[in-house]
Amino acid sequence: MSRPAFPLPPNATIGIVGGGQLGRMTVLAAARLGYRCHVLTPEEKSPAAQVAAAVTLGEYEDPSALADFASRVDVVTFEFENVSAGGLDLLAALKPVRPAPAVLRVSQDRIAEKSFLNGAGVPTVPWRKVVTPADLAAAVGAIGLPAVLKTTRLGYDGKGQKLVRERADLGPAFTALAPKPLILEGFVDFACEISVIAARGADGRAVAFDAVENRHHEHILDLTLAPAPVGSEIAATARQIALRVAAALDLVGLIAVEMFVDSNGRVLANEIAPRPHNSGHWTIDACPASQFELFVRAVAGLKLPEARRHSDAVMKNLVGPEEASLWGDILASPGLIPHLYGKAEARPGRKMGHVTRLFPRGSLPGAFGIRAALAPLRARADALEADERFLAGHACAGQPA
Ligand SMILES: Nc1ncnc2c1ncn2[C@@H]1O[C@H](COP(=O)(O)OP(=O)(O)O)[C@@H](O)[C@H]1O
Ligand SMILES: [Mg+2]
Repeated sequence: MSRPAFPLPPNATIGIVGGGQLGRMTVLAAARLGYRCHVLTPEEKSPAAQVAAAVTLGEYEDPSALADFASRVDVVTFEFENVSAGGLDLLAALKPVRPAPAVLRVSQDRIAEKSFLNGAGVPTVPWRKVVTPADLAAAVGAIGLPAVLKTTRLGYDGKGQKLVRERADLGPAFTALAPKPLILEGFVDFACEISVIAARGADGRAVAFDAVENRHHEHILDLTLAPAPVGSEIAATARQIALRVAAALDLVGLIAVEMFVDSNGRVLANEIAPRPHNSGHWTIDACPASQFELFVRAVAGLKLPEARRHSDAVMKNLVGPEEASLWGDILASPGLIPHLYGKAEARPGRKMGHVTRLFPRGSLPGAFGIRAALAPLRARADALEADERFLAGHACAGQPA
């Protein structure tokens, strides 16, 4: 079987498993570098397929779809983590897969993920594996309450997890969550949530964007502030964690590391995602080379440029029908940079697009300034409640470094 020579030459084909918006924005970045993308997705008219050069419409587990897809591409990557690692193994027997399936296996399972992070010397919340009610009682004995009980696989946007405040919550939480095993995590009363995106090439050279702050609404990412308004030591620690994780995974590709900053300024890793990440969308507009370009470069074996930021930025997700309905107002607001994902139906909780607002480097405003800068998106009545929370605190700002 012929193996492609890296770096991939112009017009080579990158195979992307998954058809969502992360794939769509990857395809657009790949096109600028002269690559074609071929998308594997079970969904007709998916966001990525709409802009890709070619599509295999098939299930991620279907051996004939996987073989057909592999035969048409030079390298395989993925934009979505819940593809089976077994499917990726099948692809890896036919074509180079970047990142390697072993990396995906770590990120797909919260226990493998936290064991890996701790083994690499990266601090996390205390945690225990829970298979039986007796395990749960022992875990609570070790960790204390409050705590968060989570499924180990297939969780996203806060799905598959329950906050356990007192002992009476244990039984119902254990019963509600399936499949087992579960993981019990100590609850962090965090000052803020931050993330760092790092890219690592086949030559081992790695670069990381600045740490950003992420604010969620109903467990879905709402706002990303770049850079995170945290002390310089916290920001540096966060970047070091992401680079350490990338090296420890022997990653070729992109990784996002989600982290908590606790009230003592300690940085704890929460989750890793070996793919482009929603908290990196601001890089399209605020950086010479975005997370998507770095991802494509790493997968294609090209040299990685610096992960440099020329502007400060705020990214606001457009979630569900209400925010999608503001599209006309967004287009009429000159300061807002619009991105829409081409999804036909705006269901509640569905990420339909995002907007980015840039500020000169070093001049990211405080909460009121950000609200003013996102004016059309703050018109909704129910957004005011989120605003109250938003305005209530930049808990991380002024954190002792
Ligand atoms: N141990 C924890 N302590 C406090 N908050 C948590 C904890 N785990 C998760 N959360 C909150 O729930 C959100 C979603 O959890 P996360 O582990 O990132 O799962 P996912 O993003 O896959 O749904 C986090 O961003 C954070 O706000
Ligand atoms: Mg998360």
